[in-house]
Amino acid sequence: MNIIPIRSAPPQIPQANLPLKGELQDVFGRQIRDLRISITDRCNFRCAYCMPNSVFNHGFKFLPHDALLSFEEIERLARLFVEFGVRKIRITGGEPLLRRNVEQLIEKLAALPDVEITLTTNGSRLKQMAETLKKAGLHRITVSLDALDESIFRQMAGVDFSVRDVLAGIDAAAAAGLEPVKVNMVVRRGTNDDQILPMVRHFRGSGHILRFIEFMDVGTANGWKLDEVLPSRDIIRLVDDEYPVEPVNPKHYGEVAKRWRYKDGGGEIGVISSVTQAFCSSCTRMRLSPEGGLFTCLFAQDGYSLRELLRHGGSDAEICAAIAGVWQKRSDRYSEIRTENTRRPGRVEMHYIGG
Ligand code: GTP
Ligand code: 5AD
Ligand code: SF4
Ligand code: SF4
Repeated sequence: MNIIPIRSAPPQIPQANLPLKGELQDVFGRQIRDLRISITDRCNFRCAYCMPNSVFNHGFKFLPHDALLSFEEIERLARLFVEFGVRKIRITGGEPLLRRNVEQLIEKLAALPDVEITLTTNGSRLKQMAETLKKAGLHRITVSLDALDESIFRQMAGVDFSVRDVLAGIDAAAAAGLEPVKVNMVVRRGTNDDQILPMVRHFRGSGHILRFIEFMDVGTANGWKLDEVLPSRDIIRLVDDEYPVEPVNPKHYGEVAKRWRYKDGGGEIGVISSVTQAFCSSCTRMRLSPEGGLFTCLFAQDGYSLRELLRHGGSDAEICAAIAGVWQKRSDRYSEIRTENTRRPGRVEMHYIGG
């Protein structure tokens, strides 16, 4: 197995079609709307579906600090992306709250015009940091939580951390005003599917939005099998049997989660069906890796490095031309063409590029 998320010789950045005016469109006419920025490849969890311990047996090493983009470099890129029409920025990792002074980055990003700033976390440091994140200007937060049962949670997260502490983090985030808090549960048939209803009962009426995510074949190390995917429609049926639900219209074009609400007013849930009902045709997401690589798909093998341009005097116009060139050439639709046998050796890891 080859885990080299960073390409030592990045592919040549495609040339943009000039002039760069108006909306950027990719090969299928999709516009760029969301930027997901991974700020570290480190995580203090070892979720088997993302960063199993086995990666360390194959020579995997975390990035050195000087390989990471600085906050100033990230801010500069984010500003240019916003000029291209990005309206939501999600900070991810690895675990983004492990990056020192992350609130300073949030402050910079929150000062950009007309853009929502969100962050995905495993919740391990959220209790201590929620207030600081809110003060820095973070708008919303998403917390990963795969089980309420302590032993299933530990099995999924691969570490000795307690569900109670993640729940305390979720409460702290809501109390700080980072609402609505979204709670992401990756469902793996045979591992945590018996946690679906306990999670539903726990989060109903809390104001938090619980979302069920189909287990995906991201990266190279998670041993994905189709029969471990529990289709969203089965999840909805299971929930509906106990608490009847009805669909809710999407708030925005290209929303990842399909929304449902409890008919009795108990709030909202969501399902993310990237395996059984792919949503590539409305995929408006660009991903920026911790060291400045642009990835146009969660399942990409290669990124286009912007770091050299950033660090060797590239002008804003040159960087814009690079961003535009990458987006205009984009033809990814991996989830739509996936089969049990689709295997891409060397594709990017989730803990590197973010969920
Ligand atoms: P909000 O609803 O605005 O909070 O954001 P979101 O719906 O994009 O949710 P979030 O960022 O929490 O993404 C939820 C999960 O959906 C991720 O952790 C991934 O597992 C999956 N996901 C997000 N974007 C993509 C994508 O572009 N492709 C695929 N295949 N999965 C995605
Ligand atoms: N399948 C589905 N979602 C995944 N995530 C990471 N790995 C996978 C996978 N194999 C998502 C989860 C997690 C976030 C950080 O990334 O939503 O909460
Ligand atoms: Fe860490 Fe999130 Fe990956 Fe789990 S899914 S190992 S918490 S980055
Ligand atoms: Fe977008 Fe790739 Fe996910 Fe499809 S598989 S929705 S193209 S990131």
